[in-house]
Amino acid sequence: MRKRIAVLKGDGIGPEIVGETLKVLEAVAEQYGHHFAYNFLDIGGAAIDKTGVPLPQETIDGCLEADSTLLGAVGGPKWDNVPGDRRPEKGLLGIRSAMGLFANLRPAKLFPQLADASPLRADIVARGIDFLVVRELIGGVYFGGHKTETVNGERVATDVMPYAEHEIERILRVGFETAAKRRSRLTVVDKANVLDTSRLWRAVAARVAADYPDIALNYMYVDNASMQIVKDPAQFDVIVTENMFGDILSDEASMITGSIGMIPSASLGEGTRGLYEPIHGSAPDIAGQDKANPIGTILSAAMMLKYSFGLAKESEAVEAAVNKVLEQGLRTGDMMSGGCTLVGCRAMGDAICAAIG
Ligand code: IPM
Ligand code: MG
Repeated sequence: MRKRIAVLKGDGIGPEIVGETLKVLEAVAEQYGHHFAYNFLDIGGAAIDKTGVPLPQETIDGCLEADSTLLGAVGGPKWDNVPGDRRPEKGLLGIRSAMGLFANLRPAKLFPQLADASPLRADIVARGIDFLVVRELIGGVYFGGHKTETVNGERVATDVMPYAEHEIERILRVGFETAAKRRSRLTVVDKANVLDTSRLWRAVAARVAADYPDIALNYMYVDNASMQIVKDPAQFDVIVTENMFGDILSDEASMITGSIGMIPSASLGEGTRGLYEPIHGSAPDIAGQDKANPIGTILSAAMMLKYSFGLAKESEAVEAAVNKVLEQGLRTGDMMSGGCTLVGCRAMGDAICAAIG
């Protein structure tokens, strides 16, 4: 199989974690007889430095031409003072939107080897953590109007959270379909006691649910959900929610699995083309020091193999390789615990490559 992959390394630890992930993709290509061609493009702060904007047109075109896109992370203190509409993060939001990627899948799965690294009590962890947050990605308050104006001599800022029925329906359907392939439980997370958007989500969910009689559907307010995730994570199979709730809950969900550095994500639209990125940020404090955990990005590439290229066997091989190095006791600093071997980003990537070969 020949595939073209757009590669956006981004900022901070982005180049390091993506570098290790490309090594892993090459190990897969070699082992299974595939050919991946990479097109390196700029995004975020790196793009601002080169071109003045966080998402050059060339990057959008390159991603739309490719079969799929791999992204590291964007942002850093260097660009903290650039105006809001030109921040590195705008590049990320822009590419998600330009590619029409409305569905963001963020698995929260505990590798048993990392149980000690979870901040949760052992008896809670022992019940298992394996759920998936399906986050709406190109609507809601992230993409509604933003403005700051002066009213009666003081500044007033407003962010708008719009949701159209078709936007709600298509992400809910991803939630139902995903649940059908898992343990058939779907939780719609919202704030229907306060927000009109949430009440519309519930109305659409009630209608769409008729098409999925085998899925056990429940609703949960987002504040309660954030509590339930730490109290009893085993109750969840698939959570579907709007953009900002999904942003917040997916960080919480990742942390209880031991480290945010482990968690991949897939952003998908109507076709098979997707954008794959770890859910963590650019970690400028450890950038360039060979300390980052590349596994979130490597597992994102595994999701790409499965969801965009239909290479399930290869995807599983990458996951098995990650499992094996954890079994060997290799850990980066973010998930280090007693009795394990501390390794850097490169050594972790090398070990995963070796486990594939
Ligand atoms: C994420 C990140 C982004 C988001 C930021 C960097 C804009 O937190 O992917 O979760 O909020 O979507
Ligand atoms: Mg986030």
